[in-house]
Amino acid sequence: MASSENPFVFGEIIDDVNFVNRTDELSQLVRDLADGQKVFLLSPRRFGKSSLVALALLKLKKRHIHTVSLTASSYSSYAQFLEKFAEKVLRAAGPWERVKDWATRFGRQVKPDISINMTTGEISLSLGKGAGFDPTPIAPEVFALPGELTKNAGFRMAICLDEFQQISRFNGGSVENAIRNQVQQQREVGYVFAGSQPSLMKEMLSAKRPFHKAGPQMFLDKIPARDWKDSIARHFRKRGRTLDDPGLDTLLASADLIPYDVQRIAHELWDYSELKDKRKLDASDVKAVTESLVTSQSTYYEFLWEQLSARQRAALQAVAYRGASDIYSQGVREEFHLGPASSVQKALQSLDSRDILDRYKGNYFFLDPLFPFWIRKKGA
Ligand SMILES: Nc1ncnc2c1ncn2[C@@H]1O[C@H](COP(=O)(O)OP(=O)(O)O)[C@@H](O)[C@H]1O
Ligand SMILES: [Mg+2]
Repeated sequence: MASSENPFVFGEIIDDVNFVNRTDELSQLVRDLADGQKVFLLSPRRFGKSSLVALALLKLKKRHIHTVSLTASSYSSYAQFLEKFAEKVLRAAGPWERVKDWATRFGRQVKPDISINMTTGEISLSLGKGAGFDPTPIAPEVFALPGELTKNAGFRMAICLDEFQQISRFNGGSVENAIRNQVQQQREVGYVFAGSQPSLMKEMLSAKRPFHKAGPQMFLDKIPARDWKDSIARHFRKRGRTLDDPGLDTLLASADLIPYDVQRIAHELWDYSELKDKRKLDASDVKAVTESLVTSQSTYYEFLWEQLSARQRAALQAVAYRGASDIYSQGVREEFHLGPASSVQKALQSLDSRDILDRYKGNYFFLDPLFPFWIRKKGA
């Protein structure tokens, strides 16, 4: 029998063997990046963008393409982001001899402090500027770096800028301009700009903004239930357990097919089955596990709830009980005292910007699919 180690992973980049579906998206992304395209990858958070990109970069690496990955939300300032961008690009471009040459040529204004650790061979870079330093003037030179390093150098690069919508925190339009102007000249470098807030990303890609029509857009859908079922059932089967079909349906419905939550509930179910040493699992087991997950989060949900206005709460109740597609109907508005359609819309938009709801295929949904369970329980 296979080991008792839990095969369901959430909140981390998923590895090759546990990766479900996404074969078309993966080959498309690999092809586009190898071609030097600038791809925009969009979905609500926890749909699997970072995992998909990580796997794509791994495949590109095997094809000797030099890869770089950077998450915009990890850095507190524009200067720090630029510094890390330059450092990671230099490391990926290595060896030292190549980047050393470049460093002496690098910009009149930039003059970075770069060094190599002789034992590990790792390159470090610092812009060596104080806190009040405005990096805007040097940004174009930093973003030009991948192009400079790959020009006539006989290798290609693929760069991922993750949580890209956060870039606007740094310096609004000027960052967008700086990146756009540089990357469009970089034939040998593929970029994937992954963004978690589709509404912000769409704004960024709209007419009059620098990234308008800069490259293909890829919307990451949910993974079909069929693929999840095969994968989940197989993991349990290897351990000598079964989860019946209604149980699988209940699991996928509770997770609203959001990859993160599918993995999270499956992970809990695995631990539960180990603890009870239960061979046959069904919908009642899935419900028990979901219940305990909701309970374990109730302090957090309570806290969140207290911060919301009466209108926002009413709108959430309506979505939790009646679903999002009927929310504007007169019946639902009356039942939940939502007022006119315009105020419903306002409430929903404010919940979207608070990251409680997001939109998928035109309808609002709960970013945390367990939150509506708590709302219904509370109202029961
Ligand atoms: N293709 C996949 N197969 C299996 N699980 C996945 C897949 N994509 C995502 N997940 C699950 O969802 C979680 C969140 O994925 P992530 O790539 O971090 O999403 P995003 O970057 O869109 O926020 C992962 O930790 C993993 O548990
Ligand atoms: Mg991510």
